[in-house]
Amino acid sequence: MRIGVIGCGYVGLVTGACLADVGHEVVCTDNDLTKIDALNRGEIPIYEAHLDEVVERNHRQGRLTFMGNMAEAVSAVEATFICVGTPPLEDGSADLSSIENVARLIATEARGPQLVIEKSTVPAQTGQRLKRALEIYNHSGINFRVASNPEFLRESTAVMDFLHPPRIVVGVEDETSEQQLRSLFDPILHQTFQCPVHEAKCPPTTPPTFIVTSINSAEIIKHASNSFLAMKICYANLLADLCDRLGADVEQVTQAMGLDPRIGPSFLSAGLGFGGFCLPKDVQAFIHLGEKAGIDFGLLRQVELINKKRIDRFLERAKEELWILKGKQVGMLGISFKPDTDDIRFAPSLELIKRLQGEGASVRAFDPQALQKAKALFPALEACGNEYQAAEGADALMIVTEWPQFKDLDWKRVRKSMARPLVLDGRNLLDPAQMRAWGFEYFCMGRPNPGSTPAGG
Ligand code: UDX
Repeated sequence: MRIGVIGCGYVGLVTGACLADVGHEVVCTDNDLTKIDALNRGEIPIYEAHLDEVVERNHRQGRLTFMGNMAEAVSAVEATFICVGTPPLEDGSADLSSIENVARLIATEARGPQLVIEKSTVPAQTGQRLKRALEIYNHSGINFRVASNPEFLRESTAVMDFLHPPRIVVGVEDETSEQQLRSLFDPILHQTFQCPVHEAKCPPTTPPTFIVTSINSAEIIKHASNSFLAMKICYANLLADLCDRLGADVEQVTQAMGLDPRIGPSFLSAGLGFGGFCLPKDVQAFIHLGEKAGIDFGLLRQVELINKKRIDRFLERAKEELWILKGKQVGMLGISFKPDTDDIRFAPSLELIKRLQGEGASVRAFDPQALQKAKALFPALEACGNEYQAAEGADALMIVTEWPQFKDLDWKRVRKSMARPLVLDGRNLLDPAQMRAWGFEYFCMGRPNPGSTPAGG
């Protein structure tokens, strides 16, 4: 199938590259011409596992092209995925102006019937708006059909998530669109393609469930899923605070809870809370949508609040140990919002750096991927070449992102180089008994910390 993808950001690029990899002819376009030029030179603007090899191979073999002329890109395709940004506005609602611009472009430039698929995360009823916009700007009588195909890609595993998803959701209004999407996703639904990743690393390939819904339902599924995940994390974080107070271990509690198939083990890791460009923005947009529909989404407002308070809790703990932050040197391990990405958008580290620096502490940080981006935001941040430099001379070392490599540091060397061997582990990455045996004052989230008196005890 000949497919257009509008928007070469994170979602668009992964979608375009993977659809080409399973055999389609894909043309990707973007209004940022520097991005298109870079992609044509073989430069990938984001750090995402396996994406470079998938883009390179399909580009070289001619199945994936990057076109600066947007009108030409959308003119002769059978289906177009809209993957443009929908950033939050001041009031928390999503800015849908790019979606409208794209609708106008497709309506005026398409030369034949087209299925227009919204993949950007949008509030419910955007599909209806999109359909209306396509009608308004269409002066040549072309038949457009609209569908929704929400993406559930996680950063750092996006390529694998696209190729081996547990489910593919399509919101449609007619049989033709459903059939077209079935055949578009056929190689993935039947797992008949050659996986670009070495087989040993390939996740078990249970064929995905194909879920056909109305467009409104599909749009809600995306926001509902992300908000639920955010809620689950917040629940684990509340439990962590309770465990801290009562001398219990949140890891033991959540592990046992997760074995109940009704609950499941994922997204129960307590720590500094959720960040990234999706969860915070989607919770906010869902609250806004609920309120507009007259539904009290106080539950999700609590989620936002609980998440915001994670940094307060962590800093309170730091101050209990350090007393005064002014003049103290803090080492920071990890800045990206989660491991295996260079993305720092809405990362808990940002608020932490801001507040530490605001109180007069100096911050020396190391992150395997995100340092440059952080340095651009915080000129006073000392960017270190490795973990040991970040720890050297520090009054405290904070673990803010759970990069696996931090586990394997020479922790005895770290201890010797610190002014005070105080480690505040915001992600429960390390083994408390081992760290204390190595001579650290070690504190984590919701696992028994020495000196934390059980309430009433
Ligand atoms: C998320 C959704 O998972 C994905 O389906 C959607 O398409 C995009 O948004 P992503 O933003 O890549 O993906 O991050 P995710 O892996 O979901 O993690 C989000 C945040 O939650 C991270 O900051 C992570 O550190 C935090 N988190 C996650 C926890 O604090 N505890 C957990 O148990 C899991």
